[in-house]
Amino acid sequence: MKFFIDTANLAQIKEANELGILDGVTTNPSLMAKEGVRGHDAIVNHYRTICEMVDGDISAEVVSTVFKDIVEEGKKLAAIHPNIVVKVPMIKDGVKAMKWFTDNGIRTNCTLCFSAGQAILAAKAGAAYISPFIGRIDDSGWDGVLLIEEIVKIYKVQGYKTEILAASIRSPNHIIRCAAAGAHVCTSPLESILGLLKHPLTDIGLAKFLEDAKKSV
Ligand code: E4P
Repeated sequence: MKFFIDTANLAQIKEANELGILDGVTTNPSLMAKEGVRGHDAIVNHYRTICEMVDGDISAEVVSTVFKDIVEEGKKLAAIHPNIVVKVPMIKDGVKAMKWFTDNGIRTNCTLCFSAGQAILAAKAGAAYISPFIGRIDDSGWDGVLLIEEIVKIYKVQGYKTEILAASIRSPNHIIRCAAAGAHVCTSPLESILGLLKHPLTDIGLAKFLEDAKKSV
């Protein structure tokens, strides 16, 4: 399973990248706003900086909702860097636009997926990635990882090439369950990635080894 970081924060992207296990970055308009990135030029520069930092796919989301505007905006985003993947919402014009992008050699990440039916449509439109939002599904009282399992099963049966990118991750346990379910990619906040490191027995064991090592100096 590939590891993407889900942030527009450059310091966090740098920290995750330095671990050596980072395969890409996802952003969305909320994450860009959180970092204070505003205005066309600042947004383009921010994406360019991320692309220069990380050697992997970088999702940049459109904010248009009408077919021709999505296409125009997506073309401009894709022109920033070859690693840009245009993130398109799962709406009717979004599906049309994803098919257009596929036919014109631009890779897409279909965002705001909350059902298997939406995942089938994204695959039919040739999306490179489908992003089921598992944390938001959990928030609504269901189990988001069950959706990942369902999509994995359907994509296998149908032979769809679209990669399942588990998004809206809230914890290390989400990452572990998505890996077990067969997600191709997991995009997570830095905190959840670093959470995978933690185990109290590791800390206790290391403290003891270091203490004993002093005895043999
Ligand atoms: C990433 O592609 C999604 O936009 C993001 O994971 C959504 O996460 P949230 O539900 O925590 O906002």
